[in-house]
Amino acid sequence: MNIIFASTMDLDGDAWIKPLQAAIPSARIHGWSANSASVGADIAIAWNPPKDLFQRETGIRAVFNLGAGVDALFRLPGLGDDVSVVRIEDAGMAVQMAEYAVYALVRASRQFDEYERLQKLKRWDPQPDIQRATWSVGVLGMGVMGTRVAQTIASLDYPVAGWSRSGKELPGVQKFAGPDELPAFLARTRVLINTLPLTDETRGILRRETLQQLLPGAYLISMGRGAHLVEEDLQPLLDSGHLSGATLDVFGEEPLPQQHPFWSDPRITITPHVAAASLREETIEQVSDKINRYLRGEPLTGVVERDRGY
Ligand code: NAP
Ligand code: GLV
Repeated sequence: MNIIFASTMDLDGDAWIKPLQAAIPSARIHGWSANSASVGADIAIAWNPPKDLFQRETGIRAVFNLGAGVDALFRLPGLGDDVSVVRIEDAGMAVQMAEYAVYALVRASRQFDEYERLQKLKRWDPQPDIQRATWSVGVLGMGVMGTRVAQTIASLDYPVAGWSRSGKELPGVQKFAGPDELPAFLARTRVLINTLPLTDETRGILRRETLQQLLPGAYLISMGRGAHLVEEDLQPLLDSGHLSGATLDVFGEEPLPQQHPFWSDPRITITPHVAAASLREETIEQVSDKINRYLRGEPLTGVVERDRGY
C-alpha cells in the first residue's frame, strides 16, 4: 500500500511524513516531488495539492485532506467520481475560528478601532456603551466551525442565529435553514460571519443582493473561502454606509495581489488565510486514525458527499 503526501505548501516534509509513517506502519509514505515518476499511490494525503496529482498518480482510491475545506481538491483534473475524499474535522481549528470571529466582532461592537484612533490623539473619550441587543450576529454555515463560532458568541450574550442547509438546533442560537429562510436570516443580522464551505451553491453568496439585506451599518467577517465574496461588490456597499466594515481572512486570489484595492482600505481588515491553522500534531493524529480505519475497512467520519461538494 503506497501513500503519497502531496502538498505545494511550504511544509517541513519530514515533520509530517515521519510521524505519519510511524502511525501508519502498514503503508509506505512517499513525499511528492515535481517532475518525479509515479510512486503507484493508492492513497493521497493532500493539502494545497499539486495540479497534476491525479494525472500522475492514477491509482489513487482515497484522498485524505489535511484541512476542512476540500474545494481545492475538486478543482484538480483527473479526480475520479469514485475516489473517496475525507476531510479533517476540527482538530483544533474550530476554537481558532471562534477566537477569530470574537476578535473581529468585539473590535467592531466595542469600538476598539476608535479607541486606537483616539489614543494616537491622546484623547480620553469614552464612547457610548454597547447595546448588545443591537449587535445581532448571524453565522453562515453551522458545521464543525460554525457551531463553535455560534456557541462562543452566544456565551457572550450577543443575539445569535445560524443558517445552514438542514438547520441546526443549538441552545441560545436561532435556527434558519435553506434558501427560503436566508432572507429572514439576513434581515435580522448586523454582523455576518461566514464559515461556509465553497461549493457550486455557495460561490458568490456574499454579493450585493444578499449583503444589502443585512441591517444598515452591517459588518462582514469572512473565514470560509474567498470565492464566497463577490469582491467588487464590497467597497460600493462600504461607500454607501450600508456596510460599516469587513474583516476578511480569505480572498479570490491568495496571496492577495499587491495592487488589490482592499489593502489600502481602512474599513477592511485583512489577514492572510490564518483564521484557523491545521495544527500538526492534532492533524497527524486524526488523519492517521482515519487512514488506519480505511485500511481496515472500518467506517469513517468526515467523508465528503461528492454531490453536495462538502
Ligand atoms: P462542515 O462541518 O462541513 O460544515 C459546513 C456547514 O455549511 C454545514 O452546516 C452545512 O449545512 C453548511 N452548508 C453547506 N452548503 C450549504 C448551502 N448550500 N446552504 C446552506 N448551508 C450550507 O465544514 P466545517 O468543518 O465547518 O468547515 C467549513 C469551511 O470553513 C471549510 O470548508 C473551509 O472553507 C473553511 N475553513 C477556513 C479556515 C480558515 O483558516 N480560513 C479554516 C478551516 C476551515 P448542513 O449542516 O445542513 O450540512
Ligand atoms: C483551511 O482553510 C481549511 O479549510 O482547513
